[in-house]
Amino acid sequence: SIGEETKGTGDDVAVNSDEIISITEHLEKLFAIAIAKAYPQYSDTAAVVAPVGNASAKFGDYQCNNAMGLAKKFKEAGINKPPREIATEIQKHCPSSPLIDKLEVAGAGFVNVFLNKDYAVGALSNLLRKGVKPPRVPKKRILIDFSSPNIAKQMHVGHLRSTIIGESISRLLEFLEHDVLRINHLGDWGTQFGMLIAHLEDCFPNFLNESPPIGDLQAFYKESKKRFDEDEEFKKRAYNRVVTLQSGEPNSIKAWQQICDVSRIEFQSIYDRLDVKITERGESFYQSRMLSVVEFLRNNNLLELDEGREIMWPDDTKTGIPLTIVKSDGGFTYDTSDMAAIRHRIEEEKVDWIIYVVDSGQSTHFKAIFKAAKRSGILDPDSHRVDHVNFGLVLGEDGKKFKTRSGDTVKLSDLLDEGLKRSMDQLRERGRDQVLSPEELRAAQESVAYGCIKYTDLCHNRISDYVFSFDKMLEDRGNTAVYLLYAYTRICSIARNSGADFSDLNKVLDTFNITLEHEKEWKLAKTLLKLNDILIKCAKDLLLHFLCEFCYEVCTVFTEFYDNCYCIEKDKSGKILKVNHSRILMCEATAAVLRQCFAILGLKPVNKI
Ligand code: ARG
Repeated sequence: SIGEETKGTGDDVAVNSDEIISITEHLEKLFAIAIAKAYPQYSDTAAVVAPVGNASAKFGDYQCNNAMGLAKKFKEAGINKPPREIATEIQKHCPSSPLIDKLEVAGAGFVNVFLNKDYAVGALSNLLRKGVKPPRVPKKRILIDFSSPNIAKQMHVGHLRSTIIGESISRLLEFLEHDVLRINHLGDWGTQFGMLIAHLEDCFPNFLNESPPIGDLQAFYKESKKRFDEDEEFKKRAYNRVVTLQSGEPNSIKAWQQICDVSRIEFQSIYDRLDVKITERGESFYQSRMLSVVEFLRNNNLLELDEGREIMWPDDTKTGIPLTIVKSDGGFTYDTSDMAAIRHRIEEEKVDWIIYVVDSGQSTHFKAIFKAAKRSGILDPDSHRVDHVNFGLVLGEDGKKFKTRSGDTVKLSDLLDEGLKRSMDQLRERGRDQVLSPEELRAAQESVAYGCIKYTDLCHNRISDYVFSFDKMLEDRGNTAVYLLYAYTRICSIARNSGADFSDLNKVLDTFNITLEHEKEWKLAKTLLKLNDILIKCAKDLLLHFLCEFCYEVCTVFTEFYDNCYCIEKDKSGKILKVNHSRILMCEATAAVLRQCFAILGLKPVNKI
């Protein structure tokens, strides 16, 4: 049976109709008040509100699940209170709000919330008038360390994942109006440069005056590595070049810069193609800070000698694997540069939150760095948040590590080229080359190719591995970029083809109201209004697949709406008889929401496809 229904009888909670809110958060606030009023002894209970799944519209739109937990607490205190009774008390004490149409107690003790239509109409009208605005959240200064390939080595699919995920997390947090620093922690320092410089000196003695022709840096790397392994004399000189480089000797620096420039051009072309913005601040940036962090750790008695090395235990238990801070030859390591970097980020950049987007293989490393930063007092867990945003592997269609047919690492530029070719093949198969102009065709090709590569990466939970398959990612059904891009373009064309003028939505809204009478109109409205909940949820755990799932849900709910609700009525000859402005406004609201999600996910929709 369904309990009595109320609109909430407690004090009103004012909502400014202009305020952009996350519905879940708003309801959590209301229910926290209700719980505190009904049960002052449990006033610190955090309210738990979740949207109700699609299928059960009769159970309302959101649900408060606190009654069960409270019943348990009462039981522990020796009091027997059925959850339904608690739910009824919560319901009674819930402040009324313009968001709520009614509340009902149901099932084992849920309080069901039915959203108010007038509120939804107001929120959607605002969205159309002002554009999609972010929900309000406390502003933070955030540094996102992502992409971070290594000079002279191949940028591989692991770096591609880091680049795609890092870029989208940056876009999400920027949309939420945080102050975001996007940092490329390039591997541009370290002992491999000794042999590269030594080899450069031998091959191109004139390198100081003329930039050396080392387009194929990987081959150059292999050659120098071979000499390093086989030639003692060369090895000695290579070691010496590490020393001259790190002490800033001009010729070594010049050689190093020339080598870095070659890689830099390659990396930049990938970033340009994927529309990635990032600031380079490689390991070399921290050279002087590595010296000072070592001093700092030494002075605080945190370093221990171990067979000539200086190590640091991550925490006082002195278990696990220690960090190597100074090697026995006096050199620094990856650990040293990350200790210097975390200190710089917190103490000089004064960030509140650092996000490292690096594959799961480095989990142990980051756990140790975070612990060591706490142990040494660099990081205060009460005021600084650090996250290792880890991710799984990219697998080939054989389920093994992603490789070329000959077993080499896949070159990213080749991969992107292949994507372009595949997407053009698909457009031609669909006869789009007959319809679109050459510019439109090219824009569609890039939109689909780069869109599907990014979207495939983002639509899985990043923790899991995924299989890289162009065939799969180019499917036009299911939760894929191709499906979403076509759906979006179709939705945009509805207003354009109505014959009415929708160019100025404010003007349309001055004359026409949004009405949500049909069940499918109402369902679409409620789906669109979940956007802020989803954005907050994605930002909380830095998981973007929730946003992908939301895009897909919006498109499928839109299809239900469009199949059931005429936007434009035509006669048999195709002549437009009637335009339903309210419904076309719903199409425009759907497009605006999708556009914002696409912007975060890095999808670039096109007008014609
Ligand atoms: N260059 C490293 C690699 O390719 C990734 C660096 C990640 N960032 C960091 N602060 N350690 O594995």
